[in-house]
Amino acid sequence: MDTNDRTLGRRQFLSITAGLGVTAAAGHCIAATDSASTQESFSFAVIADPHCAEKSRPESESLGDGVQKLLRCFEVLRRLPASERPDFALLAGDIHPDALAPHLDSIDVPIHAVAGNHEGSAESRGLLRSLFPEDFQGDGKERDYYSFVHKGVRFIGLCDAGMGGEHVGQFSSELIRPFGQCEWFEQELAMPEARKVVFAHIPPALDGGDRNMFMARNDSRWFVELVEKSPPDLLFFGHLHHATEAYQIGAAQAFNVRSCCWNFQNAPVGFMLAQVSEDGVQTREIITGEVNA
Ligand SMILES: [Fe+2]
Repeated sequence: MDTNDRTLGRRQFLSITAGLGVTAAAGHCIAATDSASTQESFSFAVIADPHCAEKSRPESESLGDGVQKLLRCFEVLRRLPASERPDFALLAGDIHPDALAPHLDSIDVPIHAVAGNHEGSAESRGLLRSLFPEDFQGDGKERDYYSFVHKGVRFIGLCDAGMGGEHVGQFSSELIRPFGQCEWFEQELAMPEARKVVFAHIPPALDGGDRNMFMARNDSRWFVELVEKSPPDLLFFGHLHHATEAYQIGAAQAFNVRSCCWNFQNAPVGFMLAQVSEDGVQTREIITGEVNA
């Protein structure tokens, strides 16, 4: 698991949290700003790349198939002390909505999802929108990106997965509704809430390079520049399927979150929990399954 203990910048420091019956990995704490000093406490989870339709894998047979591994995350959340139980979970793409749909009624934590490249067809994107209509059809029109404010914190869900399962991220596509996401995101970051959280599937290429598995060159450059200029507190991405990586984009703390289904180099599966309070935001990882080497 990732126990990254490098210095993370002026607002971050390392903290280790207690075990939960599953493994809790290293976390980070983002100290509160003065303007957020009346913050009501709450928690939220971030779950990436559940790949619900995937069969069990030989190296982790006992963990079950994709949907079982996702349901285990919610079971772990159910067992948390009441003070830590999340108000909702962010689901950061590559969901396989057809396989999730039959199990949604058994999940007792509200979900806010964004699409991944596995929701790259009109059919799968349409099904994802239909499963979470409050977010994707909130104003009566279909939209793949949205925001909501919870206890004073603005959550901004972006869609950077376009048509056809493309692994390179983009903010404009025939599949992403409506056009105008970039202007909308600029407006969202300028909203008055003191604390903001951004979540999306495909992470930016910090060096602005032209490579696979990250936002496209020009999207990356625009995104990084905007975040540096108008930083949210936290950003969460999925897609990469490796041990969770923590890094900064300017003053903002970003995470590329491990998959709860499978990861390269047999990295354990798991998800993240963020606890918001007057003192700031504390994040930690919860490992839900080890994988045989
Ligand atoms: Fe992906």
